[in-house]
Amino acid sequence: MAKTASRKHTRNRLGRSSPSMAAPPKVENMPMNRSLAAAKAAKQDEFYTQYVDIQKEIEAYLEFDPDTFRGKVVYCNCDDPFESNFFKYFAANFNKLGLKKLVTTSYDGSPIAGAQLTFGEYDEGNGKRQKPKAIAVEIEEVKDVNGDGATGIEDVKLFLKHNSHTRRPLAGGGDFRSLECIDLLKQADIVVTNPPFSLFREYVAQLVEHGKKFLIIANKNAITYKEIFPLIKQNKLWMGVSAFSGGMWFIADYKGKYEKTIDGVKLINVPAIWFTNLDHGRRHQKLPLMTMEDNLRFSKHKEIKGKAGYDRYDNYDAIEVPYTDAIPSNYDGVMGVPITFLDKYNPDQFEIIGITKTWDGGACKTYPMHTQISKDGKKSIVSKLNDAPAMKLGKRPVGETHYIVDREYFVALYQRLLIRPRARTAKEKTT
Ligand SMILES: C[S@@+](CC[C@H](N)C(=O)[O-])C[C@H]1O[C@@H](n2cnc3c(N)ncnc32)[C@H](O)[C@@H]1O
Repeated sequence: MAKTASRKHTRNRLGRSSPSMAAPPKVENMPMNRSLAAAKAAKQDEFYTQYVDIQKEIEAYLEFDPDTFRGKVVYCNCDDPFESNFFKYFAANFNKLGLKKLVTTSYDGSPIAGAQLTFGEYDEGNGKRQKPKAIAVEIEEVKDVNGDGATGIEDVKLFLKHNSHTRRPLAGGGDFRSLECIDLLKQADIVVTNPPFSLFREYVAQLVEHGKKFLIIANKNAITYKEIFPLIKQNKLWMGVSAFSGGMWFIADYKGKYEKTIDGVKLINVPAIWFTNLDHGRRHQKLPLMTMEDNLRFSKHKEIKGKAGYDRYDNYDAIEVPYTDAIPSNYDGVMGVPITFLDKYNPDQFEIIGITKTWDGGACKTYPMHTQISKDGKKSIVSKLNDAPAMKLGKRPVGETHYIVDREYFVALYQRLLIRPRARTAKEKTT
């Protein structure tokens, strides 16, 4: 039977993983040669951030600290200045944000470069356009060039048109790992972009190595990467302000697939989130919670209301909390919570101590190879229970994937973060 945090044993039927929810195989494991796999992954990098999403996210930091970008060098290092809404946002708001400098570098390999030119820079006439090569654009001031009484993107266009010295070709093709891009990175204070997801681990490692502040877009899966999660655990990287659910809508590669159009713009939905190490207001808001007793009596979640106690995992010394709003306010031990908890994470209220992944090494038990019985009864020998929070069941479940170890039945739940409350004050302990 599943162990519970209090009196009676109850069987858990919450949040278990199923084979269809498993992470897709890594590109390296796919039955195709590496270069083909790399080309496929690179193609999946081609989607472009909407202006409104950039504006909404950045304005939330300004609400918390209006000087977040003041006097700073901002570098967008995966951004064709003629296409990228990151460039457009920072150029148009250069004076409002108080930027010292805006640097943007484009990438030779981008198939979109030159496809939807904003500035007509490479217009050859007769409707033909040259495909631009990688360039760096550096802007140190934005003045009212067109004399309309304000400074904005039109002024930047005119400025760029008349000041060709502000842009220069990049011999290294604009790769963020090239020496000339690393030189620009060294001069930057804050890096803001949506980088290629296929190179995400390397991309973040480079930012961390150079000690940069950043605000970047990531695939949600990146949270559980063994190269990324330790940064989250050490509070060196956290979620941005825009919420987790529903993914983000991006402008699709002009040749690629799309799911809807708005005002003629083709959009695709990607399970993306913002990662940052810039402070913002949401991470200082305290999550309001009920006590364990009140959750068990009044929770809106049928999986919790009326139970005798919270379930305990078989392989982690922690209780299972299937919803963030069901975290008990008066439990001082370790709790397994959904990954979406990160949306509400306040580092003064909770400490992240691990993730239920084998590589994190926090399990109190390791299972020998075991039998998986899938929904349709198919049997296979696996080690899967070691890479998930496992729940022991009192009897064999019907119609769902389960595991048998030494004649005992288990299910594997979804990946969980392991958290613990920061020390509660004496006053909090009495309430
Ligand atoms: C997800 S797209 C986002 C583009 C742009 N930052 C935006 O948000 O609209 C990632 C971009 O990075 C470019 N890219 C791919 N590999 C790169 C590399 N090694 N260095 C720099 N940019 C790269 C891709 O061509 C693509 O345009």
